[in-house]
Amino acid sequence: MAEAAKFFEETAEPANFNENKTQIERFIAKHNEGCTPVVLITSGGTTVPLEGNTVRFIDNFSIGTRGSASAEYFWTRHDVLFLHRHRSLQPYTRHLPQSQLLDILEVKNDDEGQKLCVKNEKTAKLLDIIHKYQSVQKEGRLLMVEFTSLVDYLHLLRASSLIMSSLGKNAFLYLAAAVSDFYIPKNKMPQHKIQSSNGPLQLSLELVPKMLEALVKNWVSSAYVVSFKLETDPNLLIVKAQQSLEKYEHQLVIGNILDTRKFEVVFVTNSETDWIKLEENDLQNGIEIESKIVKSLVERHRQFCCE
Ligand code: PMT
Repeated sequence: MAEAAKFFEETAEPANFNENKTQIERFIAKHNEGCTPVVLITSGGTTVPLEGNTVRFIDNFSIGTRGSASAEYFWTRHDVLFLHRHRSLQPYTRHLPQSQLLDILEVKNDDEGQKLCVKNEKTAKLLDIIHKYQSVQKEGRLLMVEFTSLVDYLHLLRASSLIMSSLGKNAFLYLAAAVSDFYIPKNKMPQHKIQSSNGPLQLSLELVPKMLEALVKNWVSSAYVVSFKLETDPNLLIVKAQQSLEKYEHQLVIGNILDTRKFEVVFVTNSETDWIKLEENDLQNGIEIESKIVKSLVERHRQFCCE
């Protein structure tokens, strides 16, 4: 935990940190009086800059499908603080990929001239998305906050967790972001663009302290905390998830394998190992695995609040 504290001392808060913090404080303050639980969903990947004036950075595969889809299913019971990577997928708008936007529109002619319309076969789905999105926005049930780099993400994660600690057991953390384990500290990073004329590039990255320990023990100690464990080797998945649970002593680890993450995940707790899978008929009916994950978690969090 001393390493986590040192990391925050040695890294600067992101540019718009205070504005974001104020927004989060206001959002959470509304919930302190009521009993609606709040879930903090982290979503998307973090970048690791190679230069102070950043031209190049290391990134990862995550586009935020897990986090953005999950947010939509949590609204049955939870309000959502959605901490997401800039330009990654967001709840509801994820159904409208930019590349398909022009394909769902058509031009119609009537007495008043040309009109831009949504194609008939797309109207029902779009109306449903818009109604749900507008109602969530109108009721103030969603706050979206963006990050880009690893350092931005960790400062926002710590601030959000500390603010949410006032909610006690009504706070739920769902840590689905793909967070870099390696970074270049500011004092070891060149300020200006690395010049190719200097020859091949050799990088030395340092380990990012694991923040889960500080989060569970110090920042938001009464919360229900679910972390994710991503592996590419199926033989490692459950063992690594169990190790994480033992080390950080939170409530649940959801294990997933890179190639199969959209079809199956495993819930690992102190007492069980439970696979959640999409069956053939789920796939045919367009069911998303996040609907099953969140349904189970909402019930688990409800029970946790009653203990
Ligand atoms: O966005 P998608 O394409 O839909 O992909 C979803 C996903 C595969 C990214 C998601 O389901 C997932 O598995 N996210 C976690 C990936 C990950 O970072 O795993 P990890 O084994 O590196 O980290 C495990 C946990 O430690 C994470 O919950 C993370 O929040 C936490 N961590 C990570 C780094 C760090 N320095 N401190 C941490 O506490």
